[in-house]
Amino acid sequence: MHMAKTSLLFIAWIVSLLSHTACQAKVWQFEWEVGYVYASPDCEEKLVMAINGQFPGPTIRAKAGDTIHLKLKNTLDTEGVVIHWHGIRQQGTPWADGTASISQCAINPEETFNYAFEVDKAGTYFYHGHYGMQRAAGLYGSLIVDVADGEEEPFHYNGEFNLLLSDWYHKSIYDQMVGLSSRPMKWIGEPQSLLINGRGQYNCSLAAHLIQGSSTCKLTKDCEPVVLQVLPNKTYRLRIASTTSLASLNLAIGNHKMTVVEADGNYVEPFSVDDMDIYSGESYSVLITTNQNPSSNYWLSVGVRGRKPNTQPALSIINYLPNSPSKLPESSPPVTPVWNDYAHSKSFTYKILAKEGTPRPPQKHNKRIALLNTQNKLDGYTKWAINNVSLALPTTPYLGAMKFQIKHAFDPQPPPENFSSDYDVMKPAKNPNTTQSTNAYVFQLNSTVDVILQNANAIAENVSEIHPWHLHGHDFWVLGYGDGRFQEKDVSTFNLKNPPLRNTVVIFPYGWTALRFVTDNPGVWAFHCHIEPHLHMGMGVIFAEGIEYVGKIPRDAITCGLTGKMLINNHLP
Ligand code: C2O
Ligand code: CU
Repeated sequence: MHMAKTSLLFIAWIVSLLSHTACQAKVWQFEWEVGYVYASPDCEEKLVMAINGQFPGPTIRAKAGDTIHLKLKNTLDTEGVVIHWHGIRQQGTPWADGTASISQCAINPEETFNYAFEVDKAGTYFYHGHYGMQRAAGLYGSLIVDVADGEEEPFHYNGEFNLLLSDWYHKSIYDQMVGLSSRPMKWIGEPQSLLINGRGQYNCSLAAHLIQGSSTCKLTKDCEPVVLQVLPNKTYRLRIASTTSLASLNLAIGNHKMTVVEADGNYVEPFSVDDMDIYSGESYSVLITTNQNPSSNYWLSVGVRGRKPNTQPALSIINYLPNSPSKLPESSPPVTPVWNDYAHSKSFTYKILAKEGTPRPPQKHNKRIALLNTQNKLDGYTKWAINNVSLALPTTPYLGAMKFQIKHAFDPQPPPENFSSDYDVMKPAKNPNTTQSTNAYVFQLNSTVDVILQNANAIAENVSEIHPWHLHGHDFWVLGYGDGRFQEKDVSTFNLKNPPLRNTVVIFPYGWTALRFVTDNPGVWAFHCHIEPHLHMGMGVIFAEGIEYVGKIPRDAITCGLTGKMLINNHLP
């Protein structure tokens, strides 16, 4: 039995080797250094976590089937670092997922770690720090995967632009983390600015600046607005990804409709919209046709959704050539829908369906778990919890700890797979107290798992927040959404025909979202809310599957924490 599996794996390996050489997959070599630099992303000078001195980090561009070899050196003075490749499934390389305490040890100052992984599927992805709140310090960049040689995208376009969206705080992440972990919690508040490709303008109305040359804007090279230069009557692909710390966003372009064609590296059935929502952790491609009056330029604007905004929209200019880029658009920037117009957000989200030809989900599940999302108290500290367990990360990463069955590395007790049937999701919890644990959900390999994400009221009355949930190591099918508490009868509404495949999905206030995935990727995988402060406060769970099939984990990914060190002394092979 075991022999047969091994030889099958071996054959699969040979076949993939052959098919790769046939289409000449390439190996890309990169050497990166992470360190702080001074920069002015929104025209105010701050420290920014940069790669090789660049912010945002360099864009990686490869073709499906290529391999990335990346030597990452930590040149931060006093803290560890890791980089996660968001949306890349890491099939067969779970130790390259770049999650501190989960797939690897944080890389110490002056040390290096070698990431090697295949980018197997064309799409719009990004990468970011996954230790503490380093993403919010500016540690991110784009990762674009083109179709393999000889393949074609299922739509046509004449040119493309890449827009990496983020939000930006003037307070350091250390200040933010200490605040969130204080008793009582000091909330970080709304971001000072929204950034497009790392550029924004704090406390400056770009439109007014252009019209009246108003003096509030002190635009420098770092914070000049992004200009997209287009020719009339062409089709452009905009790749849009959000790596915000907190903000949910809406993007619109004056006078132009957008046709959504890709979500999270999967093709969707094209649909046309005037504006689109994008949550942290998501990516989209949209097509626009430059068929408007060519003597004008147009605004592209990005505003906040789902939280009462206290941040100005980010603006960029669609510059129809040969107009000057500084020619003021004739109409004012498109206005984001009202922040709490959830009906608008739902109608956009529900339109996202898989393009024909997308793999379909298995029609039956083997296991179902329900995950209740609540805001809680732990000994007076504010936390987020899942089925009343707030995630704490262990000192020795799960991957090595599970593979080598290290005792006491994490809590071996399985976490709850459900929550009490009389929990009222519409009201604050009767007892807001939670527990904290390092426990993990361990699934049978190759089983079909359904996850019901259940939103609920937070600690304050009449508050329920948006949470974008992101799964590592897999794509999942989004089977459905609903309002209120999920009930057994809702299963009959599941879309098993053309549910979209994604790696990030939102739960709306007081609602539920159902998803299905197959545990076909041996490893340990984070599944968490992509809002950085929420994850910091424990809003995540750990999934593991097929640990016995995990290959050779690099030694430096394992040997941190007390148990990790014991492992070297005792029996690390
Ligand atoms: Cu983009 Cu675990 O995150
Ligand atoms: Cu959240």
